[in-house]
Amino acid sequence: MTIETGVLERYSEGAESLQADLCCPVDYDQNLLKLLPKEIIDKDYGCGDPSRYVEKNDIVLDLGSGSGKICYMAAQLVGDQGKVIGVDMNDDMLSLSRKYQSEMASKLGSDRVEFIKGQIQDLALDLAAMDEHLQANPIQNSEDIIALRAWQENQRHKNPLIKDNSVDLVISNCVLNLVHDSDKDQLIKEIFRVTKPGGRVAISDIVSDEQVPEHLKQDQQLWSGCISGALQEHDFLQTFIDAGFVAVKYDKWENQPWQVVENIEFRSVTITAIKPQDTSCMDKGHAVIYRGPYSKIFDDEGHVYYRGQRMAVCERSFKLLTEGSYGNDFIGIIPAQETTPTPWLDDPEGVIRLASETKGGEFKDSNTNSCC
Ligand SMILES: C[S@@+](CC[C@H](N)C(=O)[O-])C[C@H]1O[C@@H](n2cnc3c(N)ncnc32)[C@H](O)[C@@H]1O
Repeated sequence: MTIETGVLERYSEGAESLQADLCCPVDYDQNLLKLLPKEIIDKDYGCGDPSRYVEKNDIVLDLGSGSGKICYMAAQLVGDQGKVIGVDMNDDMLSLSRKYQSEMASKLGSDRVEFIKGQIQDLALDLAAMDEHLQANPIQNSEDIIALRAWQENQRHKNPLIKDNSVDLVISNCVLNLVHDSDKDQLIKEIFRVTKPGGRVAISDIVSDEQVPEHLKQDQQLWSGCISGALQEHDFLQTFIDAGFVAVKYDKWENQPWQVVENIEFRSVTITAIKPQDTSCMDKGHAVIYRGPYSKIFDDEGHVYYRGQRMAVCERSFKLLTEGSYGNDFIGIIPAQETTPTPWLDDPEGVIRLASETKGGEFKDSNTNSCC
């Protein structure tokens, strides 16, 4: 049995009957659960609540949607102009989540949730289309496998399951750890590909405090049980930074480990991140002041900010730092008169914008998102 077939088998069992050892207690918003059928709530294999990050009108993609619980919770938050797409590779889980689709559509007032078949490390390949293709073109020899690969490549380009830059918010609840280690980088790249510029990510998952040794990774039960495939706590954040996300952070961190195996702690966390806008970094005279309490900090693009200093930033960084992604850490200064836009030139030491240059500009408070 491979890791993937082990995961398929375990979650087919989980769709059929409740697997108590796959549950991690989560404090969901009870108001959002009220509308959900009991079976969907019971067959919960999550470890966090990424639905907390959903906003009105969002197009949300839930990776490894399982019974559909988080999708149906998110559907109540996106409203009738939003949309929620759940992707899962397991037919039994997809049948379970779709079983209540029309009942939920009537309760919600519109059919705004869709469940599709795919692997989250290959979000371009439509597995339902591939099943159909294989019905018509069964594999009989090695030439057929080569032809199938060509068909897959063509599909990924011509009919991607999830298009580039199409999702406002990617969420996931306890699934990334189940993906084979050799596919994990590709998985994060896929998340980056489908997220809109300026879009967000909120992923609840399990991380380990130390690297998981090979003999635990070979244990099928521990892998499919969301344990031995967990990324180490620093590596988990770093894969998102390496893929190009910014404002990457642990928004939630359970103090108590969910499990301890061979003295390695496995705990539930939620990370959030932003895909930067694809506009180029143009200097128009903006500045930000880092409030403190640290003497200096760096953002994920390597820019340095000294406590209390008016630091020059390009307009793109200005928006990112003052629109809430970095919390309330910065005071923004909009230039009284924009300067002629010039391409931003990075200086590892940072550039201080003199008070004489910024005087008369409007202050922008990331706390209230308003200018005063
Ligand atoms: C631990 S359960 C979590 C289910 C759901 N997110 C929840 O909160 O209850 C993992 C789910 O991810 C699916 N899954 C695992 N690996 C996957 C992959 N590589 N691609 C797509 N789905 C996957 C499984 O079929 C299962 O439904």
